[in-house]
Amino acid sequence: MKKTKFVILTGAGISAESGLATFRAQNGLWEGYNVDDVATYEGYLRDPVQVHRFYNMLRKKLQQPNVKPNTAHFALAKLEYTIGSENVTIVTQNVDNLHEQAGSKNIIHMHGELLKVRDEQTGQIFDCYDDIYYEKNKMIRPHIVWFGEIPLYIDEIHQQITQADYFIAIGTSGHVYPAANFVQLANQFGAHTIELNLEPSLKENLFDLKIYGPASQIVPHFIQQLLTKIA
Ligand code: APR
Repeated sequence: MKKTKFVILTGAGISAESGLATFRAQNGLWEGYNVDDVATYEGYLRDPVQVHRFYNMLRKKLQQPNVKPNTAHFALAKLEYTIGSENVTIVTQNVDNLHEQAGSKNIIHMHGELLKVRDEQTGQIFDCYDDIYYEKNKMIRPHIVWFGEIPLYIDEIHQQITQADYFIAIGTSGHVYPAANFVQLANQFGAHTIELNLEPSLKENLFDLKIYGPASQIVPHFIQQLLTKIA
């Protein structure tokens, strides 16, 4: 029997109740920092010391004991565990590791990962849990996709979406491309498209089904219903 395939796009909203601020919220990540300074390659070239300071701060925040996966992350892990990793792909815009902590395995980090750094010259990627400091001849940068840079694994993501029976977007505002366009591709290839968010996103009208509320409440409920239908 053909298995049901899911592609689940997640954004900052799924981690909001885990103690991590969303980007476009009032108390969002960028407050006090200019995006062009800390989240572009040009900003990094201008002032690498400040950029490292910013990411050191975020890395510390992510590792505070109060930052933990919430019921929405756990529900997605349960879905994967129940129907198999080959049938559930999480495509996340988040640079946190809360999906991993919740137990999900098949995760594509299209915007990079906060707990990794990259050697600019060799492209080699390393785990990084501590502060890093700028050193003149050592070209180590955060493994983060900055504004103006191309997201990671795009071909693979497109391929997964074209094979999906369900495309579910959770906690994403639809402001940032190419992720904001994925729902269109999913529709073209015949997937059921579902938006789970606190409020209607910019792409709201492209989804077949929409459910609004805090992720920690609506995601577990939705996944539970889904599992009784398909598992
Ligand atoms: N539950 C569900 N959704 C929520 C919650 C919550 N508790 N809190 C906020 N949201 C919703 C908001 O209503 C908003 O629509 O999550 C969405 C978060 O939107 P953004 O802050 O724009 O985050 P995201 O869509 O992930 O941003 C995409 O932009 O800044 C860049 O690279 C960064 O990956 C990021 C990308």
